[in-house]
Amino acid sequence: MEITIGNGHDAEVKVCLLFQHMSLDSLPIAQQPHMKKAGELTWFFGREGEPHTLVAGLGERNEFRLETLREAAGAAGRAVEKEKFSKVHVSLNEITQAAADHGMTEQDMAAAWVEGWLLGTYAFDTYLSEKRESSVSLLSLAGEDDRGLAAAVQTGKTRAQGTVFSRDLCNEPPNVMRPQVLAERLAERFAPTEVAVTVFEGDALKEHEMHGLMAVGKGSKHAPVFIEARYTTDASAPLIALVGKGMTFDTGGISLKKGRNISDMRMDMGGAAAVAGALDILTHMDVPVNVAVLIPSAENMPDGGALLPGEVIRFANGVSVQVGNTDAEGRLILADALIRAQVLGAETVVDIATLTGACAQALGPEMAGVWGDDNLLAVMRDLGERSGDRVWPMPLIEQYDDLLKSTYADTQNITNVSYGGAITAALFLRKFVDPASSWAHIDMAGTMEHKKTKGYAVEGASGFGARLLADFVMTKSRET
Ligand code: BES
Ligand code: ZN
Ligand code: ZN
Repeated sequence: MEITIGNGHDAEVKVCLLFQHMSLDSLPIAQQPHMKKAGELTWFFGREGEPHTLVAGLGERNEFRLETLREAAGAAGRAVEKEKFSKVHVSLNEITQAAADHGMTEQDMAAAWVEGWLLGTYAFDTYLSEKRESSVSLLSLAGEDDRGLAAAVQTGKTRAQGTVFSRDLCNEPPNVMRPQVLAERLAERFAPTEVAVTVFEGDALKEHEMHGLMAVGKGSKHAPVFIEARYTTDASAPLIALVGKGMTFDTGGISLKKGRNISDMRMDMGGAAAVAGALDILTHMDVPVNVAVLIPSAENMPDGGALLPGEVIRFANGVSVQVGNTDAEGRLILADALIRAQVLGAETVVDIATLTGACAQALGPEMAGVWGDDNLLAVMRDLGERSGDRVWPMPLIEQYDDLLKSTYADTQNITNVSYGGAITAALFLRKFVDPASSWAHIDMAGTMEHKKTKGYAVEGASGFGARLLADFVMTKSRET
């Protein structure tokens, strides 16, 4: 599909965006209030040769956000594809004033429209015999090229492509997406870029004292790997480490998960997918950054050689951990990566992981939880509200740290209480973070997948975190 800036004179479909208390004199069609509700789509089909009109409701003008536009674009994209139309035109001109009132520029809107359209029409069809081919060959946006709209379109594309990369990685079935395959996919993706991808496996893991990763991975015949991707366009900029949990499948290990369908645990590498997607976006943004993406990846399996509850792991930073439950494996592999971030000298460290069911319970599928330094929490929250990858600040309750005490090691990977599971997981991770660095931890267990298709969400992996973390790196880098 080609995306251009133009007047849409040869468009088959014109998409019209309407707020609740707005009507367009230029439209010779009935504009009823219900059509203007956010998420509403109404077709007016033209007679032979005449263009069709698709009215997309945006809801209340004073609640307008970029997210409204992304959602409308995603839904409109699917509606147009369903009707098998080919050339589409959309005008954002009529809503420019409303956008300006909310501090959004025309460029913001164009980027959001493209991003929403591309993400909403996403399909993971690798394993479908009948591929889902899009009928749309041209999407044009009303406007003049000299208003920076072409660059905005490119930004929208870049952000969608990075998110699609995340979704694709995460949607792969677990018999395909093994740790080594994850490493290969990253190496392949970044080969044409300036990103340097290094993969540690086998003895290299021993040399680097990745004891958590080796312990968690030892029950699987698919060996664990540690992926390190460095992207430096400004070597003088302070290093930002992005750490992503890459469990290609989490059975729970010897503490086997049971009683429900656990096939979702193929997406337990959602954090890895997020940091990979963020890096993908950054490589297309032409910004001065210094980033290290760190992905510990393993498959958590029960086996004769698997990690046993009761084992003690001594980490490279000297902390010994009693394994109370092999299903709390994410924090064990993240610990190695957090130590690695310190070794590399990262000033800012953000980890993202499908870490706890407790977080998913607390916040549901719309927001991830974020813990850590107050200033990072505030930045993350703002960026999330803008990008749609929403996060909510959560507390590190010092009093709960005692719950992680163990009688025969420095700490244990679970608590013996049923409350605060997402918080104690964060407190556990903090033990491996350089106190001199600033740190944020994102638990995306609830947001890793969409259960249904709506707006620009498509059933399956959400691609959560790619845009958020790319924005975070760009914001941080701008500060210095
Ligand atoms: N990968 C899971 C967390 C998870 C649950 C992600 C649901 C997405 C959806 C994690 O490794 C895990 O199993 N956590 C345990 C921790 C517990 C044993 C302390 C959990 O949340 O139950
Ligand atoms: Zn687990
Ligand atoms: Zn897990």
